[in-house]
Amino acid sequence: MRTQVGIIGAGPAGLLLSRLLHLRGIDSVVLENRSRDYVEARIRAGILEQHTVDTLTDAGVGDRLQREGLEHRGIYLQYPGTRHKLDFPELCGRTVWVYGQTEVTKDLIKAQLDGGPPLLFDVSDVSVEDVDGDSPRIRFTGADGTPQVLECDAIAGTDGFHGVSRPVVQAGSGRVWERTYPYAWLGILADAAPATDELIYAWHPDGFALYSMRSPKVSRLYLQVDPGEKIEDWSDDRIWENLATRFALDGWEVNTGTITEKSVLPMRSFVSAPLRRGRLFLAGDAAHIVPPTGAKGLNLAVADVTLLASALVRLLQEKQTDLVDSYSDRALARVWRCTHFSWFMTSMLHRSGDDFDAELQLSQLRRIAQSEPAARELAENYTGLPLEY
Ligand code: FAD
Ligand code: DHB
Repeated sequence: MRTQVGIIGAGPAGLLLSRLLHLRGIDSVVLENRSRDYVEARIRAGILEQHTVDTLTDAGVGDRLQREGLEHRGIYLQYPGTRHKLDFPELCGRTVWVYGQTEVTKDLIKAQLDGGPPLLFDVSDVSVEDVDGDSPRIRFTGADGTPQVLECDAIAGTDGFHGVSRPVVQAGSGRVWERTYPYAWLGILADAAPATDELIYAWHPDGFALYSMRSPKVSRLYLQVDPGEKIEDWSDDRIWENLATRFALDGWEVNTGTITEKSVLPMRSFVSAPLRRGRLFLAGDAAHIVPPTGAKGLNLAVADVTLLASALVRLLQEKQTDLVDSYSDRALARVWRCTHFSWFMTSMLHRSGDDFDAELQLSQLRRIAQSEPAARELAENYTGLPLEY
């Protein structure tokens, strides 16, 4: 089998890259080692930057997003006694959208299977070869058990944090930076109308809590917990009690309902550089992970593949190497900005350390509530900086 770009991984990064290339006349094949049902059911991010919404819409996969997505014009920052609204259009002229990653993935898969490039689920034993030459290839076993070879002009490693691509790039010569945090998130999805118009990021002495949503009838809520916490130890009642305590505000209550999903999510910052070895290019979680606070993971993946798609079109159609040569540096500039912002939001809002740390966090939160430039800095980063940062 032969294609121009072999894409490993059908997360949002791989699927969108394939779509962007297809629209510009470049063939690709996407290989995914999980089933379609598994990929479509995986619950992850929920907030899209304006840039992400525009990219999906321009790529022809924004119809349902435009109909069902919820535009959000700000967030609340809460600390005991105060719930302060940051008005994004006023601060920076931009907004964000609530639309689940599961829905983005379903829309991209539907477009792909409806006349788009090949998308093969349930493949196994994926490996890459000859990435330092001009004709790299991917070996894999198809869903029917047959070993196959995919000859390519370039390969995109969009296979997430546990994929096979990053180790190959790192073996060329690379470096990683990592920070693990002494806390995790317990996330729930509940059939309950959100009791808030905007997301609430709450600092509390017992730990951080986040009030998010997926639709006018479904709430998504998170609690800071210890990383070793077992989900079995968190009954639904215990979760609702903790949420009520951490979001407490006079005259206001969390809306409860049936919990349909609950899990504990680890938190880490991780950056791997460079994003390229020869004809193998990394994008999305294959190259970097941010802690979820600030909702950057999915948006960064979209920004990476937007840059990568243009670079591959230039390489394969115009035979010019300038954009592939600069891809890693250009993408990493934005990755580090988002890595800093996610670390900043995480460090400001999660309880850890002693009372001195708590006072520093509260001082920073009050500063954002009182100073327009401080609030604007947060708003600009949250709603998304320009693609070429
Ligand atoms: P992925 O979505 O990880 O996709 C990679 C794909 O590659 C997967 O489908 C995987 O099955 C496939 N794959 C892996 N190995 C192979 C292989 N060898 N061969 C073929 N296919 C392979 N971000 C936020 O902003 N907010 C959140 O609330 C949030 N919650 C998250 C919760 C969890 C549990 C996780 C893991 C991430 C969360 N994120 C969140 C991050 C966000 O979901 C990711 O940044 C986003 O999914 C990145 O997309 P991606 O396509 O790069 O990677
Ligand atoms: C969600 C996740 C985030 O990390 C965040 O900052 C905001 C919202 C969510 O899953 O809805």
